[in-house]
Formats: sequence, structure tokens, C-alpha cells
Amino acid sequence: MKRIIHLSDLHVGHQDMHERFEHIIKMIKFTKPEAEKYVIVLTGDLVERATEKNYEQAKECIDFLRKERYTVLPIPGNHDYSEGLYHSKRNVKKFKKAFFEKDDDFFQTDREEYPKIDIIGQQGERIAFIGLDSMADELHWYDSLWANGEIGEKQLKRMDERLREERVVECKYKVVYLHHHIFAPLHPTHELKDTDKFVKHLKEYMEEDGEKHKINALCFGHNHHGHIWNGQLGIPRCYDGGTSTSKANGSSPHRVIDLSRDPINDYDGNFLRGYPF
Ligand SMILES: [Fe+2]
Ligand SMILES: [Fe+2]
Repeated sequence: MKRIIHLSDLHVGHQDMHERFEHIIKMIKFTKPEAEKYVIVLTGDLVERATEKNYEQAKECIDFLRKERYTVLPIPGNHDYSEGLYHSKRNVKKFKKAFFEKDDDFFQTDREEYPKIDIIGQQGERIAFIGLDSMADELHWYDSLWANGEIGEKQLKRMDERLREERVVECKYKVVYLHHHIFAPLHPTHELKDTDKFVKHLKEYMEEDGEKHKINALCFGHNHHGHIWNGQLGIPRCYDGGTSTSKANGSSPHRVIDLSRDPINDYDGNFLRGYPF
């Protein structure tokens, strides 16, 4: 059974966050050497700003993990599209090119095709990963003033369709992941603007067929709090990944998740231990 390592908000480019990310990946390799068993979910803000240097450094870390045969699933956050004062649409394609694998359809295009679907694992224990871009409808110039997110109607509609595809429905487990947090504390300048719509779509899906449409985990980041919201919306695991590099002393839980077991067994991999703060 594949296990999930949930990382978030690395912010490479801010102070020594790159060195901290390098420490984390080495510790993952050292403490979890059976790489094929792990899927690493990165819920956005990989970099502080979308500069060439930051992207290159974050990419090197992700490429290292992939070379070691870990599966890595990144999704963009507000900082990944940010050029200081402004978010830029051109970074949508840049993000895909840098952080998705070359044989992935996502590498090829800048069309709005999120959510990104990955089906991983053996028959009988397959996991469908549904990755959303919570910045998709937040890239107008006037959106850059704050740190909000907006999934947008188009992507929500596509999410509805993808979640009902046979290949997704037949998976034993489903994991939805995105950057922006959807539970309290919401803040007018930091929240997901279409939280209510997103929740409505998820609820309708789950109510339609409780057994086959079960969502087993919802992973997100953005507010650097690292809180646990398990049981919300009837989803057994609702995890805020905090900031894995502990930017500005933020909470840094490195949750290791086995979906076949009770959430009480999930634990903190503590991959920053030994880092010389
Ligand atoms: Fe962040
Ligand atoms: Fe963020």
C-alpha cells in the first residue's frame, strides 16, 4: 500500500528555505529508503517568487526525489505565480514545465486542464489524486494585491466530471489536494474566495454515492498553521500541511499517511530534525 508524505509551503528563495528543503529531501531518503512506497504531495508555495533561480532550486530538489524513485505530485500556490507585486499568467505554464514530469500531459500545454488526475498503486489499493489549481481564477492584475485564491467555475465543473470518471470512481481511495485552506480561520485577504462553492460540489459528489464517492483525504496549505480538521465534511483526513520548511517559525508537520489505516496512525516524519537552525 502506497503511503503519502504531505509537504507544503516550502518557499524556496526566502532566507535559507532552499537549504531546509535540501535537508528535508535527504532526510526522506535516509528515513524512508523504500522510495517506491511513497507519494509525496506538495500543496503549493514551492517558491517564494517565480524567479528563474528559485524555480531551478526547487526543481533540483524535486528531480532528486524522482530520481530516487519517489512519486512527487506538486500543485501551485499563490507564491508560485508571483513576481513580487503581480501574479503572472505566464507562470502557469512555467510551473507545469518545471515541476511536472515530461511524459505528463501537463507538461505540454497551458490550457486550463486542472484538476490534475493521477491514479497510483496496485489493483485493489489504487489511489486517485485530484490536484486543483486554487489560483486558476485569481490571476487578474487586481487579484495580486492579496493572497486569496479562486478555483473558478470552469475548474469546479471539470472537477465534477473527473471525479465521476470510471477510472477515478473505481479507485479504492481518493485524495483531493490544493493550496488554499478551506476551513477556519478564514481571512478576507487570505481565503479561497469560492470556498462555499467548492464545498458544495464536494458534498454533492459524496452524497450521490456514499460508498463509491468517498473522499478519503483533503490536503492543503497556505496559512502555515498546520492544523488538523479531520472529520470535516465527513472526510476522515483534512490536513493543513503548515510550512514544511517552517518559514517564519510556522508549523511544520511532515505527515506520513497510510490511507488503509485509521488516521490516528498518521505521524510526523519530522524531516527537518538535525537541521542547524
Ligand atoms: Fe505559503
Ligand atoms: Fe500561499
